[in-house]
Amino acid sequence: MTGGELYLFYIKKERVMDMERKKRILTGDRPTGNLHLGHYLGSLQNRVRLQDEYETFIIIADVQALTTNFDRPEKLSQDVMNVALDNLSVGIDPEKATVFIQSYIPEIAELTVYYGMLVTVNTLRHNPTVKTEVQQYGYKDITYGFLGYPVSQAADITFCNADLIPVGEDQLPHLELTRKIVRRFNELYSPVLVEPQALLSSVPRLPGIDGNSKMGKSLGNGIYLNDEAKTIKEKVFSAVTDPDRIKITDRGNPQVCTVFTYQNSFNPEAVNIREMCRRGSIGCVACKKDLVSALEKMLAPIRERRKFYEERPETVDEIIRIGTERARSVAKETMAEIRAAMRINYTCIDRGGK
Ligand code: TRP
Repeated sequence: MTGGELYLFYIKKERVMDMERKKRILTGDRPTGNLHLGHYLGSLQNRVRLQDEYETFIIIADVQALTTNFDRPEKLSQDVMNVALDNLSVGIDPEKATVFIQSYIPEIAELTVYYGMLVTVNTLRHNPTVKTEVQQYGYKDITYGFLGYPVSQAADITFCNADLIPVGEDQLPHLELTRKIVRRFNELYSPVLVEPQALLSSVPRLPGIDGNSKMGKSLGNGIYLNDEAKTIKEKVFSAVTDPDRIKITDRGNPQVCTVFTYQNSFNPEAVNIREMCRRGSIGCVACKKDLVSALEKMLAPIRERRKFYEERPETVDEIIRIGTERARSVAKETMAEIRAAMRINYTCIDRGGK
């Protein structure tokens, strides 16, 4: 081969390798309590599917959870393990996905500080998701950490060079901020950061059993992935239905019925049930019974996997340890590139990485 041919050969090889490289996704949750059916529908189910197609990183965002839980750290440690269990029980495979804890990656904290220089306070104050949360929590004033958590999220996303971020709509402002920071950084220093894209899930929000438009812990209206079969049944039977349907023979309106929203989300037979409800040929009790069995079908294997891991806490620890070590080694590499781009590598003192 001549020099020129050799060069072309390498270019081609690189392209092939580039095509072969799986895209990387980063997704995750704040550990603030057990995950419920809304989480399952909106993200977990999708996450399990994505792990086959993409190189998957799953962050247990405990630092982000601290922004609203800094005064009760004991709760946090339990929630961290619970979120790990939730992920494993729905079918996240530790052979495929890297599950890690945010606070164990000190590079994220370092990166957050550097990114802090590229974002103005006004930008942060206008973040619609943060604003909504401030209202929800009823804060009169907010901490610097809370205001800045989207900056920390930009560090989560970029330390591992994630290409795609599966998110619901509420996370879009954070992703936009990340993209802005990346562009600013690449332009100002050197193009070392990957600009991530949202993989938007269009699943509408799941209502609570009380009919509230949002299922949520603070609202006490959720069906949880780790609820016992008996609890699920009780919750479904207490869920609100079409308020205008009084007699069993009344024609129902599935569109305004919370139970039907669940049927539609989790029961493959939903279309039949909708028609029967409209005709008044299925009563609410029978419909609820049907939903309970559909949910059980879906949740039984999840419950079984949860039990498996609950009985083996050292296995869960090991999965998190391996995932966190992996994430850490990626973080060290990225951080070395970032420090070099920013020229904050004045000496040869080893800071981990290069
Ligand atoms: N903000 C996300 C939530 O509230 C959690 C999160 C933290 C996250 N860091 C992330 C999600 C990075 C995706 C990517 O659920």
